[in-house]
Amino acid sequence: MSRTKGPIGVFDSGYGGLTILKEIRKRLPQYSYLYLGDNARAPYGTRSFDVVYRFTLEAVSALFDMGCPLVILACNTASAKALRTIQQKNLPDMPQGLRALGVIRPTAEAIGQLSSSGHIGVLGTEGTVNSRSYDMEVAKLNPGFKVNSKACPMWVPLVENNEATAPGADYFVNKYIDELLDMDSRIDTIVLACTHYPILFPKIRAAVPDHIKVVTQGEIVADSLADYLLRHPEMESRIDKNGDCRYLTTENPDKFTGLASVFLNEPVSVSHIDL
Ligand code: DGL
Repeated sequence: MSRTKGPIGVFDSGYGGLTILKEIRKRLPQYSYLYLGDNARAPYGTRSFDVVYRFTLEAVSALFDMGCPLVILACNTASAKALRTIQQKNLPDMPQGLRALGVIRPTAEAIGQLSSSGHIGVLGTEGTVNSRSYDMEVAKLNPGFKVNSKACPMWVPLVENNEATAPGADYFVNKYIDELLDMDSRIDTIVLACTHYPILFPKIRAAVPDHIKVVTQGEIVADSLADYLLRHPEMESRIDKNGDCRYLTTENPDKFTGLASVFLNEPVSVSHIDL
């Protein structure tokens, strides 16, 4: 096992994982991070299982090769379609001690504490919804809960194209929220199960009746990572503690820098990577 320290890798299909990274850095500022956005090939949400798996494996392998001992798949679609196969099939053939974690399990764990009615709404990409990953994880942890899922295929393109705050976004925000709430009048908690969606949060919150909670994943994933590192000191000791953060994109770095700085409210320095 390598004794060299490295940053925590954070992977998303594009900008969405920045909403997770932001909360992780707030919670665990002492660690170093390396973010990789596969913006050139986003969105992943409408792609097949095989393609999402192949793209995700390429990204995770690149982060491992660059010295990350631990990679967070800060993307529900990649967590739903690729994480299990990577953990079971690929990691055993890689250098010992490398780990990949996703965002679905920690979110499903948190849901149990958040809903009183046990009627949940899950908004995600087509890939996440069709994988039924949330239905399965929630059923394991909270038997008796009813999960209603709705795919929102227009939301990621709105975010990736910097249209999240534009008036035109309102139509698609209201459309998917209305369709979800029509499925089950007892929903008391809606999970934004796509890391891009918090960027639409003000519009989503305005479209959802006040008595329904709207849950984002950033803090949940950050708490779960903090807990994981406490329980795994052998991994914690391998993480770089310089508190820095670097960004990689498969797209044009200038394009990424502009939008990422808006999402993170701070300037970022970005390099290009080919996968
Ligand atoms: N942000 C990703 C997620 O959490 C997927 C967006 C996409 O590429 O479709 O599912």
